[in-house]
Amino acid sequence: MNKFENLTYESFRAMAKDGRLSCYEKIGFPDSYRKGSEKNIFDDIVSKVHALRGKGKVIADIGPGCSELPHMLIDLCERNQSTLILCDSDEMLSHLPDRHFIEKHPGKFPDSIAAIDRHIGKVDAVIVYSVMQHVFLDMNPFIFTDSAVSLLRDGGGELFLGDIPNITKRKRFFSSKAGIEMHKQFTGRDETPVVRFMELDEGKIDDAIVLSILQRYRNAGCESYVMPQGRHLPLATRREDILIVKH
Ligand SMILES: C[S@@+](CC[C@H](N)C(=O)[O-])C[C@H]1O[C@@H](n2cnc3c(N)ncnc32)[C@H](O)[C@@H]1O
Repeated sequence: MNKFENLTYESFRAMAKDGRLSCYEKIGFPDSYRKGSEKNIFDDIVSKVHALRGKGKVIADIGPGCSELPHMLIDLCERNQSTLILCDSDEMLSHLPDRHFIEKHPGKFPDSIAAIDRHIGKVDAVIVYSVMQHVFLDMNPFIFTDSAVSLLRDGGGELFLGDIPNITKRKRFFSSKAGIEMHKQFTGRDETPVVRFMELDEGKIDDAIVLSILQRYRNAGCESYVMPQGRHLPLATRREDILIVKH
């Protein structure tokens, strides 16, 4: 099995401490997937989350990891005079700087929510980027997302569930002409990727999960949207973002 597959909160705790890993490997990515791309990824996030473009906001990042992305978010929050709440393991958070506008809350979310209960209903934007696939393996994902939504303020609070690998989207892509061509280039072999429909993909997020997240929070009175990633992002063909906005 690929060493970056089936990673859970506990796997990340161990990887954060492993001095042999690069900052990208510590968060579960081969260097080739993230090195040189994180500025584009960050710009894509900022273009989709309104509160990241405003001043004096309360921003939370659940699962910030320790590559360049959280540093870009820290710089942005400093420029915007925003408060930044960071929720991840102590091992991961120890790689990020301590600053006066940052609150670090070590622990697995939502177990750690008691420590931030004063922020419930007050947060302008919660960022959860490239985390849902790991939550999906660890716990009931709706308990996680319900708790993240509970942090949002009324009147426009945003939950951004970004970089969700959707196995059905992946299958659609690798059944297409462009996907087959990309596979051939990647493997250097003249072969068609194996794509199996009508199968249960255990432990993987699929269209059913993505669409049920959209519907669950619409039923709860929020707006919810599935958004494409910028075409130039490394995994745009297989991943997508969800934005939930509280009325
Ligand atoms: C793939 S990394 C993504 C890091 C960062 N958001 C990025 O995209 O660069 C997943 C991160 O989520 C954290 N994580 C996973 N489950 C979590 C949970 N339930 N609560 C808090 N953090 C969690 C991991 O420790 C890890 O830092």
